[in-house]
Amino acid sequence: MTDYRFLRACRREPVDVTPVWIMRQAGRYLPEYQKIRGKNSFLTMCKRPELAAEVTIQPIERLGVDAAILFSDILIPVEAMGVPLEFHEGKGPILGKEIRGQADVDALAVPDPADKVPFVMEAIRILRKAFEGKVPLIGFSGLPFTLASYIVEGGTSRNFIKLKTLMYQAPDVFRALMGKIAKTVVAYLNAQIEAGAQAIQVFDTWAGILTPRDYETYALPYTREVVGSLRRDGVPVIHYANDCAMLLPAIRTLPVDVIAVDWRIPLDRAAAEVGQNVALQGNMDPTMLFLPPGQIEECVRDVLRRGQSAASHIFNLGHGILPPTNPEHAVAMVEAVHRLGRKG
Ligand code: CP3
Repeated sequence: MTDYRFLRACRREPVDVTPVWIMRQAGRYLPEYQKIRGKNSFLTMCKRPELAAEVTIQPIERLGVDAAILFSDILIPVEAMGVPLEFHEGKGPILGKEIRGQADVDALAVPDPADKVPFVMEAIRILRKAFEGKVPLIGFSGLPFTLASYIVEGGTSRNFIKLKTLMYQAPDVFRALMGKIAKTVVAYLNAQIEAGAQAIQVFDTWAGILTPRDYETYALPYTREVVGSLRRDGVPVIHYANDCAMLLPAIRTLPVDVIAVDWRIPLDRAAAEVGQNVALQGNMDPTMLFLPPGQIEECVRDVLRRGQSAASHIFNLGHGILPPTNPEHAVAMVEAVHRLGRKG
């Protein structure tokens, strides 16, 4: 097996060049994605392994990144739990099950991935064959807090009133929901590893809406349960939370290999928070890709320089690439990382 620089950096081993990939690298900013998306709904693309595989491969060819991430969505296992899911143009996901009490949690399933989402594992198997020797494949899942936020709010939210009201006023119901999601996520990720995922990234997009204390009380225990229950067998685990700066003292207690951070905290300060026993991933502001390539290069240089404070650094954006991004600017960023990130 090829010793990929992305996997080496996850393990904090020396690399020739800083590895780079982009969150949401398969997506609407790519015309070749739009072409397939024009003929299929987003959920159809997630559920047809040959389509999911095709769009997973697109950014590898176009950008020359050092890792592939499976094309899917964090809400796929939520639908498998029995929550109706739709995506509406411009509105994001809409979930159709209210959680008012314990009975609503009891009605949710802990799905068997082989039975309910076999297309995910099938896409992984197709991709492993397609990529052999070329790039490693990252599998992923949302973490319980972020998935609970989508279920309880019924979609994306601004103030998370329903979620926080449930959490504070019915903590037993909230905890029952979190426990059920955690079991679902463990089975889902272990099935991805078994199918061939070579690294796992777990997403806690909304963790940053909590105070550090509430994060430790209501979210962290379930993340710990998830990452502690993975049959990893050498598969590195990357933890991503958006708006994570205040949460790093808690996140660094997790048994993960890589902590991915958003752009709001400079990487040298993040390194000072998390120490030298974990790698860092990130964290260029996705908006910087709207600047001319010369200025993008300056941003890359700054992120790389700060990343040298970490035990190991994987270059990425601080959140997903934005749909109006010019693909050529993403290419320029990857090229700059590979040119400026050469070691020794
Ligand atoms: O990174 C990748 O390229 C892999 C695929 C991937 C997608 N979503 C594809 C996608 C991954 C890893 C995700 C994760 C995801 N999905 C997260 C966590 C990461 C983050 O951004 O914080 C979240 C919160 C979701 C939920 C979700 N799915 C949202 C909020 C949206 C945007 C809705 C919109 O209309 O913009 C999606 C849809 C989605 N997921 C798209 C893609 C490519 C766009 C779908 C389309 O083609 O219309």
